[in-house]
Amino acid sequence: MYLIGIDLGTSGTKTVLFNLEGQALASHTVEYPLYQPQNGWAEQDPQDWYDAAIQSIKAVLAKSGVKGDEIGSIGISGQMHGLVMLDKEDQVIRRSIIWADQRTAKECVEMTEKVGAKRMIDITANPAMTGFTASKILWVKNNEPENYEKCRHILLPKDYLRFKLTGELATEVSDASGMQLLDIPARKWSDEVLEKLDIDKSLLAKVYESPEVTGSILKSVADITGLKEGTPVVGGAGDNAAAAVGTGVVRDGKAFTTIGTSGVVFAHTSQISIDPKGRVHTFCCAVPGCWHVMGVTQSAGLSLKWFRDNFCCSEMETAKGMGVDPYYLMDQQAAKIQIGADKLLYLPYLMGERTPHLDADCRGVFFGLNTIHTKTHMLRAVLEGVAYSLRNCVDVLKEMDVNVNDMMACGGGGTSAIWRQMLADLYGCGVKTLENREGPALGVALLAGVGVGAYKSVEEACDATVKIKGVQEPIPENSREYEKFYQLFLSLYPALQNEYKKLAAL
Ligand code: XUL
Repeated sequence: MYLIGIDLGTSGTKTVLFNLEGQALASHTVEYPLYQPQNGWAEQDPQDWYDAAIQSIKAVLAKSGVKGDEIGSIGISGQMHGLVMLDKEDQVIRRSIIWADQRTAKECVEMTEKVGAKRMIDITANPAMTGFTASKILWVKNNEPENYEKCRHILLPKDYLRFKLTGELATEVSDASGMQLLDIPARKWSDEVLEKLDIDKSLLAKVYESPEVTGSILKSVADITGLKEGTPVVGGAGDNAAAAVGTGVVRDGKAFTTIGTSGVVFAHTSQISIDPKGRVHTFCCAVPGCWHVMGVTQSAGLSLKWFRDNFCCSEMETAKGMGVDPYYLMDQQAAKIQIGADKLLYLPYLMGERTPHLDADCRGVFFGLNTIHTKTHMLRAVLEGVAYSLRNCVDVLKEMDVNVNDMMACGGGGTSAIWRQMLADLYGCGVKTLENREGPALGVALLAGVGVGAYKSVEEACDATVKIKGVQEPIPENSREYEKFYQLFLSLYPALQNEYKKLAAL
């Protein structure tokens, strides 16, 4: 038996075909555009997601030589929070407003007024968020009433794909958590929030646990892909919850840090824990009956990419000539500068910040610039600033009594040895890397296996497949040195908080 994991990301959909040992036999990604009709808006066309999934399913079957009837089960992961609206003929009404879209500040104020700030956090485990689905639904209601009028079904991105593959209107707890309509402690739609926001519950899909079978492949889909009609499709998971399964973060104490465009610190917890200040997200996780707590740094890898694109043209050219990744050369340079970058600090708030500030107006800062500083000092400061911000997420989790003592590193930035060492030194625990780097796609393939009984439980599926490659331990003298700069880093945002507001208002 083989398993397929489909990961419907923001830049493209990646489909991977695995054997039961978790080895990837074939992988294929199809990219699609992101539409930004206005500053701060972000939309995608659901048809593009479907086309990409069909093409990539066909490609992995062709590349691997595995037959459709050898695929035991399929799991779908995806970007969270996006809004897909269908009319009475099940046709998409408008482009999807996706997670990165920030147009809904007014609707968030409306939500807080209607539900109450404390009730909102008690039920949905988060304050009203511009990125989450509920505020996007209200935006359509307020701004495109003719579209809202036509709407019969509301789905998340990966659940739209499920609908097209299986004909079932279904979702699962981990992704539904990011709609801000789910009662997170009870793992079901919140009648109270739906009533107060005047959203009809019948618009929403049935909620499953992530490894449960939600339907099976339609004949029409089987005919065009080569899959077998009736192949089970399980709930799957939102991208971070799926990555947790793919990295084995399925037990208390286990956590991972992703350094992608944004940075995420994700910790598993079998007891629900909600930050009363709403600084981190608490969501249902893909392990039935468990949750995760997640801190987000908006501009993690993005900070380094910004620095590379604007200041490292020569490194990019040298790297091209040598046939290596420019980030590799940048890492080597940064390693030559001592901890603290000769008293230069960087605040990574290029796109505002989620954890812990929840502030759309704060912006990036280099603090302490001096004539001795070079571009390389600034580069080192960028890496350190992102690491301080991720440590800030870990501190919030610890404050909530979420135990974090086993940390995995993933994402593009997780491949950097110097960045991982900074995390180990700042977190004060070992930071591990994995053999398999398929993260979310492997995670949902494992859930697919659990759904059809190939593994007894999510935990057992991870034990059978997730292999540790190495671990970087904290170096005590580094930790002591970083701590001084981290304490100063922590004091800079409060000192600038009001000034950020003035800057935004200029
Ligand atoms: C999670 C989040 C992102 C998206 C897109 O809250 O906004 O991780 O799921 O990847």
